[in-house]
Amino acid sequence: MIKLHDKYFKPFISAAQIDKAMQKLADDILKDVGDEIPVFVGILNGSFMVVSDFVKKYKNPCEVTFIKLASYEGVKSTEDIQRLIGLTQDLTGRTVVVLEDIIDTGNTLAEVHRIFKNEKVKSLKIATLFYKPEAYKKDFKLHYVGMEIPNKFIVGYGLDYDGLGRNLPEVYQIKDTQHMTNLVLFGPPGAGKGTQANFLKEKYNLVHISTGDVFRYNIKNETALGMLAKSYMDKGELVPDQVTIDMLNAEVEKNADANGFIFDGFPRTNAQAEALDNLMDTKDSQINAMIALEVDDEILVERLLKRGETSGRADDADEAIIRNRIKEYYQKTAILKDFYSAQDKYYGVDGVGSIEDITVRLSSVIDSL
Ligand code: IMP
Ligand code: MG
Repeated sequence: MIKLHDKYFKPFISAAQIDKAMQKLADDILKDVGDEIPVFVGILNGSFMVVSDFVKKYKNPCEVTFIKLASYEGVKSTEDIQRLIGLTQDLTGRTVVVLEDIIDTGNTLAEVHRIFKNEKVKSLKIATLFYKPEAYKKDFKLHYVGMEIPNKFIVGYGLDYDGLGRNLPEVYQIKDTQHMTNLVLFGPPGAGKGTQANFLKEKYNLVHISTGDVFRYNIKNETALGMLAKSYMDKGELVPDQVTIDMLNAEVEKNADANGFIFDGFPRTNAQAEALDNLMDTKDSQINAMIALEVDDEILVERLLKRGETSGRADDADEAIIRNRIKEYYQKTAILKDFYSAQDKYYGVDGVGSIEDITVRLSSVIDSL
């Protein structure tokens, strides 16, 4: 997945697929043009890459030129009046093939036709690498189409989003679910993660996915994945990441219409963080932030000992055990802090104060995403 300006794009058409479509365009055009020397006309800016790769695949002699359509400066009109820059060559009697990167509504193509109407060319053929049939509103014939694609915005291979993305050798498609808020919530034992997760899921309509709960649910209900996980646990082995990811995937699918997810207890390793990124990618989504509640060790020890007095949890009663759990937490999360920091997604939040104060701090992070 890539981000250009404010938008996310996912891999859509590989360089190999583009190459194949380009080869077919070149073969088809060569077959029709035969021994004539055609003039290939690229429409700048987008088609520079199409033209460059196309002519390398066109084995017979040919000429290449570019034109650019530009809006008239200073003309205020709802109709985008365009003029042509660069058609300096006499094309009388020539076979002209316009090479386009993409045909969307067909407005650009209409302008090309208008401009060529006065040129006494022998024939004018239109070739485009990409074509969005659902968006096309004109009747002009498209003689050669590399690939039909859905009516969604793409970038790469010459196509840009507000200036960026033209240099990408493959094509990316805009992601639909830009609005989702997916959080990875971290906090040392005693930081109040559970309490805060409960508030956040209410406030933002998120689904809280606690890996521990997901495991217990699957094992209790003897799902296929639960039984698989249990078989490893019974042997005293770690459950493979893929099994955990498959369980999380099932949870995400169950809540396909959620505003987003709070992941709790996962990931714990770099490999898991990458697996989670891949999972979100398949959902047209992404992890937006890792939020870690930061609480001083001494305060945590105090809180947990107090909790031990009432909860009766053995691991909350012994200070040495508590300190060890805290130490372990920092050792484990340091890696993930680096992983998410590298993506600019790490947010440390002061976890000392009243429950309400901490919720406010967490909310301001989420609202800023
Ligand atoms: P049309 O005039 O609507 O057919 O669109 C043609 C022009 O719009 C192209 O030359 C591109 O500059 C731009 N365009 C249309 N669809 C896309 C897209 O999905 N990504 C990037 N540019 C596009
Ligand atoms: Mg174009």
